[in-house]
Amino acid sequence: MSGKLRLLATAAFGLEGVAASELKRLGFEAKGFHGGARFEGSYEDAFLANLWLRSADRVLIELGRFKAESFEALFEGVKALPLEDYLPRDAFLHLTASCARSQLMAPSSVQSIAKKAAVSRLQGVYQISWLPETGPRYRLDVHIHEDEAVVALDTSGSGLSRRGYRTFNAVAPLRESLAAAMVMTSPWRPWLPFFDPMCGSGTLPIEAALIALDRAPGLLRPFAMEEWAGGEQKAYQSLREEAAERFEAQKAERQAGPEPLRVAGSDIDAQVLNMALSHLRQAGLTGLVRFEKRELKDAQDLFGEGRGIVVTNPPYGERMGDEAQAEAIYQELRMLRNRLPGWGLSAISSHKGFERVFGLRADKKRRVYNGRIECEIFNYFPPRAPKAEPDAED
Ligand SMILES: C[S@@+](CC[C@H](N)C(=O)[O-])C[C@H]1O[C@@H](n2cnc3c(N)ncnc32)[C@H](O)[C@@H]1O
Repeated sequence: MSGKLRLLATAAFGLEGVAASELKRLGFEAKGFHGGARFEGSYEDAFLANLWLRSADRVLIELGRFKAESFEALFEGVKALPLEDYLPRDAFLHLTASCARSQLMAPSSVQSIAKKAAVSRLQGVYQISWLPETGPRYRLDVHIHEDEAVVALDTSGSGLSRRGYRTFNAVAPLRESLAAAMVMTSPWRPWLPFFDPMCGSGTLPIEAALIALDRAPGLLRPFAMEEWAGGEQKAYQSLREEAAERFEAQKAERQAGPEPLRVAGSDIDAQVLNMALSHLRQAGLTGLVRFEKRELKDAQDLFGEGRGIVVTNPPYGERMGDEAQAEAIYQELRMLRNRLPGWGLSAISSHKGFERVFGLRADKKRRVYNGRIECEIFNYFPPRAPKAEPDAED
């Protein structure tokens, strides 16, 4: 396959722009669309995106798009794609499908027709009467939206949110990609203290530490494309090695340099804190993030005065009867902010009256989905640091 691939970094609703910004920082020309961000590049570039994207769900190679108002059109459209440019004769073919606002609205039928068409194409090109499917796995995704089918090849394997460190599920954990997006869109910067006073299983502090230490989110996990045959394996390996070196260098600098990493989490529940500590160890960050058992009302002792940012995912009060409890927590959170006057705050909630209960309008908001729950991220900027007084002689 020569030439540039058309690549898609899929992302949850509300995070498309965050994924596009990340791609731009990686050096790509990227544009957000409903469902993700588009960019172009080689297989190596797709690997780089898998390794480094924090807010995206998957990296896909777009193989083609066409009108699919009937099953015949779908079959012919898939069969016309140059699948052999991407899939070897022994490819183990796995199809997934989704449909929205279209004539074809049954994903299972779309999946089976598309698979028949793909098999038919490969049998014809490779001159074989059956596909052995004994080789590496290739997942083809067919998405039909307003009668336009987009067929794309998944390079990631499991979703990019699965960094590999999180194995225990606390109540209502935040997906790693959403946690990272929250950290990246908050007023926090890696040299500032970071604090989550309701950290549960530790996702937000761990994602903040990964960002501060320049640790590629995908460093510890494999990607589907690594199993595919091809000459790129060496290039993938060197991208991994380079990422590991960047992490080690940054870690050494933060441990020995003038700006040590100050990332912490606390929670009222000792059991979830044990999970947070296990996740920290599994992320290879033992000793780099502080986790302590604290009630929200006593949490400010962890940092005291100075500047920093609180980033947190408090309970939403979604279930009947829990709303009053959630509101009491938002008021307590406001008191925490009052006790930390130099600090900014970023909180996510689905509670429609969050700002009213918290008692302050957010400086910036972003609508996102936490799983199926529509939420907003409320950002409160820290007060500006006073400018240094000019010297008397100036
Ligand atoms: C939605 S969960 C946070 C999940 C976390 N982001 C994660 O990824 O695992 C809310 C957390 O707030 C904690 N919490 C509730 N009330 C609290 C209080 N008064 N003080 C401290 N923590 C509290 C709960 O124990 C729970 O772990």
